[in-house]
Amino acid sequence: KQLDFAGEIEKSTQRAADLTRQLLLFSRKQALQPHDLDLNEVVTSITKMLQRVLGEDVEMQFKFSPQPLLVHADAGMVDQILMNLTVNARDAMPKGGRLLIETSAVEFDEVTAAQTSQARPGSFACVSVSDTGGGIPPEILPRIFEPFFTTKDVGKGTGLGLATVFGIVQQHQGWINVYSEAGQGTTFRIYLPRLTKASDKKANWSSLAAIRSGNETILLVEDESSLRAAIRITLSRLGYRVLEASTGAEALEVWKEHRAEIRLVLTDMVMPGGLTGKELGEQLLQHDPKLKVIYASGYSADIAGKDFHLEEGVNFLAKPFAANKLAQTVRNCLDKI
Ligand SMILES: Nc1ncnc2c1ncn2[C@@H]1O[C@H](COP(=O)(O)OP(=O)(O)O)[C@@H](O)[C@H]1O
Ligand SMILES: [Mg+2]
Repeated sequence: KQLDFAGEIEKSTQRAADLTRQLLLFSRKQALQPHDLDLNEVVTSITKMLQRVLGEDVEMQFKFSPQPLLVHADAGMVDQILMNLTVNARDAMPKGGRLLIETSAVEFDEVTAAQTSQARPGSFACVSVSDTGGGIPPEILPRIFEPFFTTKDVGKGTGLGLATVFGIVQQHQGWINVYSEAGQGTTFRIYLPRLTKASDKKANWSSLAAIRSGNETILLVEDESSLRAAIRITLSRLGYRVLEASTGAEALEVWKEHRAEIRLVLTDMVMPGGLTGKELGEQLLQHDPKLKVIYASGYSADIAGKDFHLEEGVNFLAKPFAANKLAQTVRNCLDKI
């Protein structure tokens, strides 16, 4: 009995220490000690600690960008970001699950920017943390970065984890996006300015003009009107004919009228109005097995496609995507036999 008590005291002391540290980090705007770091190395060096936080029931997976991702950042603060997101992922998966950490180099253009409120053009390093937990209900999503906002029991949550992450990311001139699907899980993506040499920009950034275009008819299904417009403009410029729908139901209407012309359907996975992108794709493929379908989602392909096959660059577009990625995926998908 007495031992239990000591354990409890130790736990609450630990919690108090955690809370204090978070508060300090959060309020003091600690001075940054930035260095040129490879984000892949930062992630690698903290994996053991993250696995310990997650426990045995959560499987950890990694997908690193093949090239180094140089950023000018405070390593301790990047660790803090990863730690806070991992703790939240663990809390979201009480019965176990999967945690995926991905790093990638991304170039932002006007199409990409239309998909993310804080994005700006340029070269960025992205680190994302995905879980297979219960997801974040849409009604609380706008509030999760607020200081002291928590849905956890008293003594469990501080509501400072994401506020701290948000603050750190801002201090680094970056931004954070969150995608969540009920029952599937959640992906947080953090973007930090990437240090580039003029040469590597050229190497991994194929220009839109270099990608073969076409004149096929494409049905575009996307509920967000600004993004739909950006995609439509990009595809039209390349020569494609674009038909639009903002929901699955609307897409079925357009399909009825134009099914003879439509070669490819590009659909968002998550849409309001009852019919998901996946369900829409399945229905249309029953009508026309030769139809090509590309699914777009902000959620990680590995996890979103767990019950059907998604291949990035062929039938899957990871949001946010750039114009050249869009053009290349559309072409790859149309040309696939
Ligand atoms: N990966 C996640 N899955 C589901 N919900 C999450 C996730 N991350 C954060 N949340 C939600 O956001 C809220 C705020 O998170 P945070 O600022 O870290 O505070 P805390 O974890 O102390 O509650 C959480 O209480 C939870 O409701
Ligand atoms: Mg938290």
